Amino acid sequence: MNVMTRPDELIAIAPANTYVETVTEVTHYTDRLFRFRMTRPAGFRFRSGEFVMIGLMIDGKPLVRAYSIASPSWAEELEFFSIKVPDGPLTSHLQNIKVGDAVLMKKKPTGTLVNDALIPGKRLYMFSTGTGIAPFASLIRDPETYEKFDELILTHTCREVAELQYGLDLVEEIRTDEMLQEVLDTSKLRHYTSVTREDYPFKGRITDLIESGKLFTDLGVPPLDPASDRGMICGSMEMLKDTKVLLEKAGLVEGANNRPAEFVIERAFAG
Ligand code: A2P
Repeated sequence: MNVMTRPDELIAIAPANTYVETVTEVTHYTDRLFRFRMTRPAGFRFRSGEFVMIGLMIDGKPLVRAYSIASPSWAEELEFFSIKVPDGPLTSHLQNIKVGDAVLMKKKPTGTLVNDALIPGKRLYMFSTGTGIAPFASLIRDPETYEKFDELILTHTCREVAELQYGLDLVEEIRTDEMLQEVLDTSKLRHYTSVTREDYPFKGRITDLIESGKLFTDLGVPPLDPASDRGMICGSMEMLKDTKVLLEKAGLVEGANNRPAEFVIERAFAG
């Protein structure tokens, strides 16, 4: 397998609809998860919560997958949070990228986990599992999300405690960074973490915690109510399906970019 990682070589052969960007930072969290940042092309615009196709040139061919952009729309760099699958066609190589390497990115961002796809409400729930936290990492750093809602509840469920670290670091940074403190009313932000396969103060799948009502008791908020609550969901296909059922049971209606409503799901994002 030949992975072409030199920016100058790639720029010469990249397809017209594709940017070639340079990795600026890589952080490995566990043997299954890592984060990286790369340069942002000058003309590239996106809405916080959207995803884009990124990838590598492998054996002379571009191999790209949908990745939520974890940085907010105002950020200078682009951040991504990725799984590592040992035999995954892209992530088995992407996990080896280093500062200075080239990453391909298609020019057009898209997605439904955006503020515009929800009608106004009081409380925004962002339900995530695993790397599904990425679009919410973007939204909780965007002042617009804080202007639109009185309370932002980010739930993140992982198999193991170590997999929560990206989200814990992120929320800590939001609460302590001086620049972010000036533009975000972070007293509105709540972070609820749970773990399914290890001991942890909060245990269980988010679906079970919603169904039993434990999530709401733990947070000290009333059960889901379409009059006040809005939802965004991002995780595996099964998690999306099961969480959607519970929101619909509570009376929330699914929306889209052209039909804003009470909750939205990212269907293109798989893991
Ligand atoms: P579990 O450990 O019980 O499978 P994954 O890494 O497989 O995407 O899982 C991330 C987290 O999502 C895990 O805590 C996992 O719990 C949980 N999960 C998996 N499937 C579902 C589902 N259908 N509904 C809610 N949570 C799920």
